[in-house]
Formats: sequence, structure tokens, C-alpha cells
Amino acid sequence: MILVTGATGALGTLIAERLAGRDDTVLGTRAPQQPQRLPVRHIDFDEPGTLSKGFEGVDVLLLISAGYGEDDTVIARHGAAVDAAERAGVGHVVYTSLTADGDHLPYALPHRWTERRLQETDMNWTILRNGLYAELLGGLAAPTADGRITAPLGEGRLAAVARADLADAAVRVTTEAPAHARRIYELVGEQAVGGADLARTHGPHVTYEPETLAQARARVAASGAEPFQIPMLVGTCSAIAAGFMSRTGGDLRQLLGRAPRSALAAAFA
Ligand SMILES: NC(=O)c1ccc[n+]([C@@H]2O[C@H](COP(=O)([O-])OP(=O)(O)OC[C@H]3O[C@@H](n4cnc5c(N)ncnc54)[C@H](OP(=O)(O)O)[C@@H]3O)[C@@H](O)[C@H]2O)c1
Repeated sequence: MILVTGATGALGTLIAERLAGRDDTVLGTRAPQQPQRLPVRHIDFDEPGTLSKGFEGVDVLLLISAGYGEDDTVIARHGAAVDAAERAGVGHVVYTSLTADGDHLPYALPHRWTERRLQETDMNWTILRNGLYAELLGGLAAPTADGRITAPLGEGRLAAVARADLADAAVRVTTEAPAHARRIYELVGEQAVGGADLARTHGPHVTYEPETLAQARARVAASGAEPFQIPMLVGTCSAIAAGFMSRTGGDLRQLLGRAPRSALAAAFA
């Protein structure tokens, strides 16, 4: 049996759509009362009591990272999930991690902690080092009503990847898990996209106006963001602007068996 956690999140929803109709798959979510097209189990990493029952009979666990929070919160969540998977006799954990080039990002540490924790288990594992979503970039660089994209991306570019492609890759690996045991896949896009590229997709009336990191930090702080979200957003832009996130290539095309979707199209879909 396959179990997918985080099933009502954006990535989990895309994965659940692709797995609908299978008779060997259940969805794990903190909101089990919401109707789904597959059987649902209550899974909340913050409530380890849900995990022993939730992981019963599971052979392959697709562990979607629950990455919103301070590092200690996220580590506790993922640690609880891996501990429970071991106790329940899960055979294989597929984990949605972060691209290798993301080591400069403020949220990299819990991903690397989880990768190391999985590599120490007797379970089989596969690590999907997901690149940053094109949709995330589109959100960071959304145009204002008067046609300006203001973001602290400088001239930097991101090897952005459509979330739907990451869902396709995760489904392939999860449903063929033994063939992917003890593999780490680098899943970044094939097109590096920057602020000016994003502006061009809207037409000549939209311009890209880079701002400083300090301006962005003040703007995000004033928006009512949680304290941990401010370095997440500013640090993401800083890494892109400094050129650390532009490397394309990797294993995405091979896992998809086709060309990846256009990152520019996905950014504002
Ligand atoms: N590569 C990127 O660009 C990028 C960007 C943002 C985030 N991420 C990471 O990738 C993950 C999936 O992305 P997404 O777009 O699907 O994010 P999302 O829409 O925010 O969904 C995250 C899901 O994680 C699950 N979750 C949160 N806290 C949990 C907990 N305590 N126990 C169990 N599950 C919990 C929830 O699923 P339920 O509500 O169904 O329980 C939540 O909906 C994120 O959680 C984050 O770690 C990656």
C-alpha cells in the first residue's frame, strides 16, 4: 500500500489526482474530514499519535515535507514521521527534499537533516531534490496593477520547475519504488528564469524593477508574515539574485520521460 502525506497541499493535491483510481493507495492529511477520491487517513506530524495508526500496512510512504516553521519544528515533524514509519514496518520512504543548489536557502537545513535521517534507516528511501516552484517565483514577482514587477532578484535567474512536473516525477518514483531505491534525484527545471523574463510574459506594459533586499525585508515584514517567513522569502530572493539557483539540467527529463513543462507558463498559470 502507498500512503501520500500532505495530500491536500498544492503538491499533494496534484499527486492525489494522478493516483486517483488506484486500489492500493491512501491519502494522509491533517484534514481527514475533507472528501477525497481515495481513502483518507488522519496524519499530522505534530501529533505523533496519528502516525502509528496512520502508517499501519503501508509499504511505500511518500513523505511530503512539512516545511513551514522554524528548523526545530520541521525537524521534529520529519523525525516523528520517520520514527513512526520505522516502527510501522514501512518498507520504503520517498521524501520531497530540496535541490542541492538550495544549500544557501534558509530552509535547507531540515531537508538535509531528513535526508541524513533516512539514509541511516534500514528502510529503503528515495530522495527527490525538488527545485523551487515556478509558481513560487510567479508569486514573488507578481505584477502590480500599474504594471510593475518589484522583487529583489537583481539579474539573477532561477531554474524554476512546474509543480505539476514534480508531481509527475513523485508519482513515477512512488509507484515504481523498488527501481528507485537509495537514489537521489535532482529535479530542477531546464529554463532559468529572471525578473525581466517574467515581465516579458505579460507584454511590453509590464516592467521589472529590482528592489534591494532591505526594501523587500521591510515590505514582507509589513505584510503580516510570520517571523520565520521573512528570512525564508528574503533568503530565497538573495540566493537567486546571487546566482546560486540558476543551474539547469538534472534528472527531471529522465524521470518524466518527456520535456519538462515551460517554467514561464507555469509561473503565472
Ligand atoms: N520547491 C518549492 O519551491 C517549495 C516551495 C514551498 C514549499 N515547499 C516544500 O514542499 C512542501 C510541499 O509543497 P506544497 O506546494 O504542497 O506546499 P503547501 O501547499 O503549503 O502544502 C504543504 C502541506 O504540508 C502538509 N503539512 C503541513 N504541516 C503538516 C504536519 N504537521 N503534518 C503533516 N503534514 C503537514 C499539509 O498537508 P495537509 O493539510 O493535507 O495535512 C500542507 O497542506 C511544503 O510543505 C514545503 O516543505 C517547496
